[in-house]
Amino acid sequence: MNDTLERWGSKRAFILAMTGAAVGLGNIWRFPYIAGENGGAAFLLLYIAFVLLLGIPVMMAEILIGRGGRQSPVRSLATLARASQASPRWRYLGLFGALTVFCILSFYSVVSGWSIEFLVASINGTFEGQSPQAIGAGFEAFLANPWLLVFNHSLFLFITMTVVAAGVAKGLERLNNFLMPLLYLLLLVLAGYGASTDGFGPALGWLFLPSFEAITPTVVFHAMGHAFFTLAVGACALMAYGAYMPEEQSLTRAAFAVALLDICVALLAGIAIFSVVFAQGLDPTQGPGLMFVTLPIAFAELPFGSLWLSGFFLLLLLATWTSAINLAEPMVATLTGMGWRRSISTAAVAVSVWLLGVLAALSFSTLGEFRPLWGRNVFELLSSIPPDVFLPLGGLLIAIFAAWVLPESQAVESLGAGSRGYRLWRATLRYISIPLTLVVLVGGVLALG
Ligand code: PHE
Repeated sequence: MNDTLERWGSKRAFILAMTGAAVGLGNIWRFPYIAGENGGAAFLLLYIAFVLLLGIPVMMAEILIGRGGRQSPVRSLATLARASQASPRWRYLGLFGALTVFCILSFYSVVSGWSIEFLVASINGTFEGQSPQAIGAGFEAFLANPWLLVFNHSLFLFITMTVVAAGVAKGLERLNNFLMPLLYLLLLVLAGYGASTDGFGPALGWLFLPSFEAITPTVVFHAMGHAFFTLAVGACALMAYGAYMPEEQSLTRAAFAVALLDICVALLAGIAIFSVVFAQGLDPTQGPGLMFVTLPIAFAELPFGSLWLSGFFLLLLLATWTSAINLAEPMVATLTGMGWRRSISTAAVAVSVWLLGVLAALSFSTLGEFRPLWGRNVFELLSSIPPDVFLPLGGLLIAIFAAWVLPESQAVESLGAGSRGYRLWRATLRYISIPLTLVVLVGGVLALG
């Protein structure tokens, strides 16, 4: 990113761009499987609470810093720190954000590769007439094939980095804005289909009636990580967006709108997926394959199932594509900010993310028993530690910077909610978001060991 003061054409364009970063695999793939592993309704309740208490206020802080600095994350942090007479070291927070998105993109690309495989399979009508057991077994066989996983990961990363290198992300974003409502519509159809199955009642109970014994410290920890992940908060990725936010737009309203839409998409996906899980007697705790084995089953029951399924995977890929571009962009911006050429920066990011992604992809076969930390293999580490630890840690530092370091005069203006609104938001950060994140993070990290 350069330092020119280009602004988003309109308020709507800004919200849509933020939604493009927020809505992705986190809502449709990650939410159902993590909720499944963490007690369903108990997880959902905590996750929504964390979105309200931490996600939204910290998202506002992150955008506010970008809006105040109007430069790339590292430079915005440096400029604001200087203006606040704080340590210039705050800029390292931008580098930490780049490290976080690096780890996230590596497994994100692998899972997006699974969507490519499923898109091709559904176009070929592979799932037609298959039993749920056969679909499950097919997925297992696919995961066990290292070549296929690496191939699809490479393909996805290639199309992502090509867009980044060509600098045509804006054009893709426009296409995305135009097509995302279709994805929501398809999810609505699927949830509607779910309502017609025997699994609907149990699915609603599982998602919305929490049993309080299910709330364990681990569930709390995962719910917090997921709140950050799904909103794309804590990696300084949204900071870059703030730099382009129109002057007159309300930050509060934008943050609430994005969070609401994000939760709705996750809920629709959850209802659709868990209806199938309960109707077919599948295991809700089965892990990362949950979406991939349930949706082909659901679509198989609908007329023109393969056509719907192909449309779904195509739209999902588009959603993950834009999220992946948003994940790659801050890393490229950091390198170009250090004086590297854009083409070289993009190539360096592509190669290193690819290598780490290959390790993640091989975790389902060859490297399955390579468990370097906490008994987890590379895929398990990458898909849990950056969302559960790095994002909350980044978010915590962003919140501290915005609520304790930035002087009121500077922040009030960037927040644009008047001084009473500012005080309320700052108090929420100071006395709720920051202590809560700290406690859950420390507790969660101690429990890892
Ligand atoms: N929020 C994105 C999703 O739900 C993932 C993401 C995380 C994107 C962090 C950017 C930064 O898929």
